Amino acid sequence: MQPIASPMQPADWRNFTAATIIPPMPTTTKTALLSLIVLIPLGLFLPGMRAAGIAPEYTSGGQLNYPTGYREWVYVTTGFDMSYNPALQSAGHHMFDNVFVNPEAYKSFVENGTWPDKTMLVLEVRSSEGKGSINQKGNYQGSDVMGLEVHVKDEARFPGKWAFFSFENGKTSKMIPTSAECYSCHSAHGAVDTTFVQFYPTLLPIARAKGTLSSAYLKESKAPAAK
Ligand code: HEC
Repeated sequence: MQPIASPMQPADWRNFTAATIIPPMPTTTKTALLSLIVLIPLGLFLPGMRAAGIAPEYTSGGQLNYPTGYREWVYVTTGFDMSYNPALQSAGHHMFDNVFVNPEAYKSFVENGTWPDKTMLVLEVRSSEGKGSINQKGNYQGSDVMGLEVHVKDEARFPGKWAFFSFENGKTSKMIPTSAECYSCHSAHGAVDTTFVQFYPTLLPIARAKGTLSSAYLKESKAPAAK
């Protein structure tokens, strides 16, 4: 009689892993499965993280970091050739400015008619183009960004709650000193909390409904328009 061969060598169970039972999958299937396992939870968490995430970031020296991604924030308005000075002639060239705000601040504004702590408003100045491609009349925005200014509300950091920054090619910007005209014009004429909501078409009706327009603006807008 042949000795009954033991079905397994004693040490063999160690090698008897799932991989030997389940036929090996092609690598592409494995990668696809693995991606699903990793990506589904990421997909569930990331949007939430992003929604809670946009807030001003500073260097250790207190400079504001360039607001990367502001082009994906909420679009507020576009100004065309706006000028504070009626005597100022734009020397033959036009300018656009686009305003964006971080989404969480926008949401809060829609609910309350005013800006929460950690609001970031970006003013992007763009060159204007006239003739190009099929365009014969009117103006469109050029791809050159001529300036980028940021208005930040950070109550714990700035004595006046808000601060202005201007980026000139750099990745960081020093705070503009509070003696600058930016602060006096914005606080004297901005319709809501030192910002120019009177020029932001979707926000003005909200501020009006919530009663958050500044008394200075209300007075100014009742005065007969200067001709
Ligand atoms: C004489 C008034 C005046 C001065 C001075 C002024 N601004 Fe403004 N600012 C405006 C007006 C008007 C708007 C609205 C622009 C629009 O509607 O497109 C504005 C909008 C802005 C915005 C968009 C967010 C907001 O607060 O409404 C930023 C950012 C900004 N200005 C930065 C600056 C900086 C930086 C300076 C100083 C270097 C400055 N401004 C000086 C009148 C002024």
